[in-house]
Amino acid sequence: MPAAASPSAVLHEVAIELGDRSYPIVIGTGLLEEAATWTEVPRAAAAMVVTNEKVAPIYLGRLAAALRGRFAQVHHVILPDGEDHKDWQTLNRIFDALLARTCDRKTVLFALGGGVVGDMTGFAAACYMRGVPFVQVPTTLLAQVDSSVGGKTAINHPMGKNMIGAFYQPARVVCDLDTLATLPAREFSAGLAEVIKYGPIADMPFLDWIEGNLPALLRRDAAAVAHAVRRSCEIKGWVVGQDERESGLRAILNFGHTFGHAIEAGLGYGEWLHGEAVGCGMVMATDLSRRLGLVDDAFAARMTALVRAAGLPVQGPDLGTDRYLDLMRLDKKAEAGDMRFVVIEAPGRAAMRAAPEALVREVLRHCTA
Ligand code: NAD
Ligand code: GLY
Repeated sequence: MPAAASPSAVLHEVAIELGDRSYPIVIGTGLLEEAATWTEVPRAAAAMVVTNEKVAPIYLGRLAAALRGRFAQVHHVILPDGEDHKDWQTLNRIFDALLARTCDRKTVLFALGGGVVGDMTGFAAACYMRGVPFVQVPTTLLAQVDSSVGGKTAINHPMGKNMIGAFYQPARVVCDLDTLATLPAREFSAGLAEVIKYGPIADMPFLDWIEGNLPALLRRDAAAVAHAVRRSCEIKGWVVGQDERESGLRAILNFGHTFGHAIEAGLGYGEWLHGEAVGCGMVMATDLSRRLGLVDDAFAARMTALVRAAGLPVQGPDLGTDRYLDLMRLDKKAEAGDMRFVVIEAPGRAAMRAAPEALVREVLRHCTA
């Protein structure tokens, strides 16, 4: 059942500054069905909306109708839903659809959905005819605060998460906050994990704000959600603007992800949501920071309490310590098989560090069920 759209209003615009690859993130209400939202997207004869079987019945009709004001042809392709479909086979369905419609190299792809659709659509856009423009239209909280911004695109490999991909920036990101009304509570909490992440790595006043406003966020209070999306995008934009291709600083955005990716791959993609694994991974990475003597017990307890209060797991599944270690050695941040972790150096500041295996084993013993 489609959620009713609010009157169209642009509430915030955040600029991602990347020279000739710069783009705006437009955050507002009633944006999807508003023709004016789409007047600035690249001009072309055809648009291809990529979405999935869960999102299409709710939002595809609205977006396609609005895009008809801008494009002579509006095509779509509907992918199977879920992280376990973020693979070559599903990616190929996008190429099949583009070729079947004889789409040329000006065709604009629209990623309508969560991070899975966004990451796959971006990768398809990077590859199709060696690169076509694409627009992110994120419909989950996680995608609005993180995955639609910054140009990381990828599919999973059975041996590792997001292992096959490209850096490829969208032409625009449109966050229609109304779409969050239909998001299941578990998915909303998963998105909060990535919102929380920005506090300990970059902005302690934002962490204070999240703690104070968590009840409002959980009941999806419009003003609170709008602020969370805006501030998250500002912080991500600030990081990506300095280090687009992750030669250094950008790695801090992966706080919690080394443990989290091991959980996702170890359990099988889709068992835990990405945000759930990141939430728990942040608790583990904070525990590692504590054991390294970087943060105190009170800070670690504070992070655990916040992650738990957001509705996220704080204990990792029992994969076995050796299995965790094997999976983490495959992480993209590992160098020559040595695990590296994003740690909190001090509240509000993160950095990448190698950690002694014995200490990582202690974390795993302490933080898994
Ligand atoms: P998702 O894309 O699987 O979406 C979650 C679920 O919600 C899906 O079932 C989806 O169909 C459904 N859904 C989407 N919008 C909805 C709506 N408005 N109403 C109802 N249901 C809706 O998961 P996600 O949490 O959005 O994204 C996770 C993915 O993002 C992972 O693959 C992760 O690796 C990736 N990610 C990428 C980056 C990046 O920088 N590129 C950053 C973070 C995460
Ligand atoms: N989500 C991690 C990044 O965008 O770099």
